[in-house]
Amino acid sequence: MPRVTIHRKAHFNAAHRLYKKEWSDEKNLEIFGKCSNPNYHGHNYELVVSVTGEVDKETGFVMDLAILRKLIRSEIEDAFDHKNLNLEVDEFKDTNPTAENISIVIYNKLRKKIIENLDLSIKLYETPRNFVTYSGE
Ligand code: NI
Repeated sequence: MPRVTIHRKAHFNAAHRLYKKEWSDEKNLEIFGKCSNPNYHGHNYELVVSVTGEVDKETGFVMDLAILRKLIRSEIEDAFDHKNLNLEVDEFKDTNPTAENISIVIYNKLRKKIIENLDLSIKLYETPRNFVTYSGE
């Protein structure tokens, strides 16, 4: 059976600060650069959610993109958009909200909602040039 990957793009704006509280501001600046700014700063995150599976004979779909769109809205956009990730999103209370960690949180939230015979992959752009991918390995 042919396996096809469908993709849905989404977007959210969010603020964060990358730091370890045990470290001095100087050490945080050295390791995390401008992303350690104590007063937080924002990014325009671009998200691509990819779902791979067999094409259903009856519908011709891998997965209904309207369902995927609604899942991304309820699980990710509503939870992250215009939020301070460190202060307002439970998953980042004790986890640095790097692009890497945000992609893992997104994957885990969506993975619970998508049937297991479909493969899931996340691509997250923190800037137009800096992006990460995560597929659950
Ligand atoms: Ni940053």
